[in-house]
Amino acid sequence: MSTVNQRFAQILENHQDLPSIPLVATRALQMIDDPTCNINQLGAVISGDPSLTAKLLRMVNSAYFGFSREVTRISEAIVMLGFSGTHSMILGVVSRPLFKGIAAEKLWIHSLRCATASSIIARDTGICHPDDSFSAGLLHDLGKIILARHCEKDFLRIEEEQFADDSQRLTREMEVFGATHPILGEELATRWKLPTVMIKSIRYHHSPEQAPEEAMVKVVFAANFLAETDGLSSEEIQAAFEKNISVNFPVTLNLDSVIERMKIKTEELIKTFSLF
Ligand SMILES: [Fe+2]
Ligand SMILES: [Fe+2]
Repeated sequence: MSTVNQRFAQILENHQDLPSIPLVATRALQMIDDPTCNINQLGAVISGDPSLTAKLLRMVNSAYFGFSREVTRISEAIVMLGFSGTHSMILGVVSRPLFKGIAAEKLWIHSLRCATASSIIARDTGICHPDDSFSAGLLHDLGKIILARHCEKDFLRIEEEQFADDSQRLTREMEVFGATHPILGEELATRWKLPTVMIKSIRYHHSPEQAPEEAMVKVVFAANFLAETDGLSSEEIQAAFEKNISVNFPVTLNLDSVIERMKIKTEELIKTFSLF
C-alpha cells in the first residue's frame, strides 16, 4: 500500500463507496476457479440470483454469441459458454453498473473494445485463453473507475490531455492523485479476489515488461492499444504498433482484421447490455 497515497488508502481501507460486485457473483467466480466444482453446483449458485440469471440468459441468446437455438436454462448456458465463458459473462453483467456516470461511460466502451480485442488476439495467436483474456481486458482499467468516482473533474481533465506515451500519463496521475490507475486497480481486484493472472493484467497493462511470464498481460497490452486507434489509417496503426507495442508483443497479428472484428463484436455487446 506504500505507493497509494493517504486519500486512496483510506478509501480502500474503509470500503467507503468502493465499487463492488454482488456476493453471488464473487461466489460464482470462485467456483469457476475451483477444479472440484461441477456445472450443477455452479448453476445452483447463479440461479439463486434471479436478476443475474435473467441477464446471463439474455447475454447467451444475444447476437454476440450467435447460437442457433434459444437457451432457456442456466445449466445449458454454462455448458454452451464453458466455465471460462460463463466467468467472463458474469463479469460483464455485474461490472456494467460500475461504468455508469459521465466519466465512466466512455471508459465502458473502451473496456468493451479492449475485452473483445483481447479475446480475438488470444484466439488468433493461441497464446492464452480467449474467455479469460476477455475478462482481463474488460477490467484492465478498473483503477480508473475509482478515479472517476472520487475525483471526477481531475479524471476528466487528464482524460482530455495528450501524452507522448503511457508512462507520461501515469506520472501525471501520480502528481494529481498520488496513485496510478494500475495500482488502484490491482488493490481493488485483490479485494474482489479475482484470479492472479487478471490482477497482473490490471497491474501491468501499461508495463508488460514487468510481468514477462504472463502471456495474458501482453495480450491486454496490445488490445489496449488497438482499442484506441480510431481516426488512424491502417499504415499509421501498423507503424505505431511496430514502434510501441511489438517490443513487448513479438507475435504477428493481422491488425486490420483484429480491429474490424473488435468493432463488430463491441457493437453487438453494447446492444445486448443496453437491454439491461
Ligand atoms: Fe490503462
Ligand atoms: Fe485502457
